[in-house]
Amino acid sequence: HIQLSRVADLVVVAPATADLMAKMAGGLANDLASTLLLATDKPVMIVPAMNVRMWNHAATQRNLDTLRGDGVAVIGPNEGDMACGEYGPGRMAEPLEIVAAIDAHFGNGRLKGKRILVTSGPTHEPIDPVRYIANRSSGAQGTAIASALRDLGADVVFVTGPADVAPPMGVEVVRVQTAVQMQQAVEAALPVDVGVFAAAVADWRVTSASDRKLKKTQDGLPVLGFTENPDILKTVSHMGAGRPKLVVGFAAETNDVVANATAKRLRKGCDWIMANDVSPGTGIMGGAENAVVLITHDNVESWPRMGKDQVAQQLALRISQALE
Ligand code: C5P
Repeated sequence: HIQLSRVADLVVVAPATADLMAKMAGGLANDLASTLLLATDKPVMIVPAMNVRMWNHAATQRNLDTLRGDGVAVIGPNEGDMACGEYGPGRMAEPLEIVAAIDAHFGNGRLKGKRILVTSGPTHEPIDPVRYIANRSSGAQGTAIASALRDLGADVVFVTGPADVAPPMGVEVVRVQTAVQMQQAVEAALPVDVGVFAAAVADWRVTSASDRKLKKTQDGLPVLGFTENPDILKTVSHMGAGRPKLVVGFAAETNDVVANATAKRLRKGCDWIMANDVSPGTGIMGGAENAVVLITHDNVESWPRMGKDQVAQQLALRISQALE
């Protein structure tokens, strides 16, 4: 066990059971794994996997705090259906997520040297200096995607409208208000290896926004005229030379998700569409979870409902595979 504990650069325990975590936290050493873990002078990463109640148990959570305090890195667990038929956190992180964590640990992320653009958040289209047209996008999914790409070592340019969530650390942030400003910021960020267009861009702007606050008048209600905004995703997808190698668009649909998103992929000319159902009952728009369907030129893949952070990690891994 001494030799084993010294030869590797990193010790990864996958799966890490509740029992092994308890042993590690208590410093027990009565078998090969626990003696190795107690004897090692190398960093340790654990990937917990257990029943949801065992994970949520106060003892396991206490052990988790102890292990984190000892400098042990913890990957997952993920939330979802369990082998035992229950649901909740306790599923082992996916193999690719573990590989990504190991890559990130060694600082040689799979997206090192890649420049990736992410658009995020809503846009605000002014009516007058105090009023605007907006939408319910929180920017949570785009922000999570930028973070996940950064974690894999990419140089991320993050073009964001006025979102509810703070932009991630360690990325180049460009803040905009309107669709036209977003398009200009995107053009300025090119060329990039990959473009991920997660922003909920307003389809129209008010044709001549007033530079004075509109007043109530005796003559009735104001009439607003609209002009179509530039379609940023479509423009970038149809660029000839200088087009990103991979262009990913989003489709927020309230019905016939796959059919509408498949048609949208062709209409926009992008490579992939991440489609999601944003009907009011789903709680997805503005919520913490997402249920997406990834549509590529030859495949339709439904992902289980999971946290927006996990969706982002999976997408970042898929992007890294596509660039290999
Ligand atoms: O046409 P629709 O708005 O449903 O398309 C959604 C996709 O297109 C998203 O990826 C969004 O970021 C992008 N989009 C864009 N510019 C627009 C409208 C949408 O980039 N003006």
